[in-house]
Amino acid sequence: MSLDTTHSLALDDIQKILAVGYGEFDHACYFLISELYNVDRARAYFRAITEGMIDAASNKTRAGAEERKATIAFSFNGLQTLLDCPEDDLHRFDTAFREGMSGQHNLRRARILGDTNPGSTRKGWDWGRNNEIQILLILYARTEADSQNLDKTEVPKIEKFAKAVKVEYGYLGEDGKEHFGFRDGIAQPSVEGLRIPRVPESIKPGEFILGYANESGAIDDIPGIPGDDTWGKNGSYLVFRKLEQDVKTFEGLFKGKENPELLKAKMVGRWQDGSPLTLAPEGNERRLEQSNDFNYHKFDQHGYRCPIGAHIRRANPRDSLLKGTRDKSPAAALSNANSHRIIRRGRLYQKGTGEAAKKGLLFVCFNASIEDQFEFIQRQWVNNKKFSKLTNEVDPLIGAGGKFTIQAPYAPKQVDIKELVTTKAGAYFFLPGLCALKQLLKP
Ligand code: HEM
Repeated sequence: MSLDTTHSLALDDIQKILAVGYGEFDHACYFLISELYNVDRARAYFRAITEGMIDAASNKTRAGAEERKATIAFSFNGLQTLLDCPEDDLHRFDTAFREGMSGQHNLRRARILGDTNPGSTRKGWDWGRNNEIQILLILYARTEADSQNLDKTEVPKIEKFAKAVKVEYGYLGEDGKEHFGFRDGIAQPSVEGLRIPRVPESIKPGEFILGYANESGAIDDIPGIPGDDTWGKNGSYLVFRKLEQDVKTFEGLFKGKENPELLKAKMVGRWQDGSPLTLAPEGNERRLEQSNDFNYHKFDQHGYRCPIGAHIRRANPRDSLLKGTRDKSPAAALSNANSHRIIRRGRLYQKGTGEAAKKGLLFVCFNASIEDQFEFIQRQWVNNKKFSKLTNEVDPLIGAGGKFTIQAPYAPKQVDIKELVTTKAGAYFFLPGLCALKQLLKP
């Protein structure tokens, strides 16, 4: 496969999840596999399950199409075990990926991610607390019953080569809404050459897929394994976080409040039905529900529409952070923000019903550098108490709670927020290209 940095992507070598979220499959079964004890059997199982797995170029997603609906990724620990090699034989992998999301030694990373907050500490995690997960396999299904069936059929097969497997069920919310009632998954980077036609504001593929130029014109390190120095080309890093949402506390924040819908929208930066406050400050507008065509500097510099600390403005400040850029221009700010983007592919989960139900998001995102993208967003924007011109506050939706400032021309308001989202599990993975996958699994 050639590394064409100026023209098209090798779409036939890229796992399809990078191009689309398998939206036609309402359900997905996530297998988190650890303690591999028979590598040959593991390889044979994954060869069979990924045979015919389709690539980013294929468009056979209509009902009944013959395709293998699977996504597969490996942790650093998983790669070492499958390849039976020491760490030092795996070259140029992202440092965060090598170190793993958790593990006793890594409190620095826990702090960056907010996993030192009381509800998020690793001892309460369902899996991933010791970097133990080796392989992530996602299989997609059209119905809940099909997805539970996958659990029944696949777990016994997996147990023939691994001692432990955890299963999570993910699904797509009605109208694309997450548990707090907001339409999610709207703003995605438009990646040059990846199914979406080239548009002037598209992002260079090297921000997400290894082997291509990124926004600064450079090509990120392509990781190598023994015998193949560019094994990682056409791959990407996958971040997986199980994020529990406290819906009762969220709803409690608005009891007795004047205009609760506006307050909710201010926290996120979009109305629950999706329109961005920057374009639709007065109320949701149907035609703007999927809109991603806006920046902040020109129309909303001071945060009078979308507050400066709102979730979407922290997670992607677009052209608004002029400080620290080359020439303090909105264009430079946008270009800077564009080098810290992620492709999101989250799904909801719910375990149990009624008051005791556990609800949340199986957050999955892709990037070419975990440190410069996902972790950067968490550290410099979401959990940064001095983000932009703010002091002593964090993301109101996914941070640790505290105050949240809503800017207004004469009378800015501050509201008290509680911790609404806690981490219950997580791991970092590498999503290989399809040729690399074949090579990894060959007998
Ligand atoms: C339970 C946890 C979370 C919930 C409920 C949530 C919810 C939302 C919602 C409702 C939106 C607006 C709709 C959209 O543009 O897709 C959004 C956007 C976004 N979120 Fe989250 N989110 C969560 C966690 C995270 C995390 C952990 C990150 C990354 C660190 C993140 C990054 C983003 C980004 C990058 C956007 C798009 C911003 C833009 O480009 O305008 N989210 N999220």
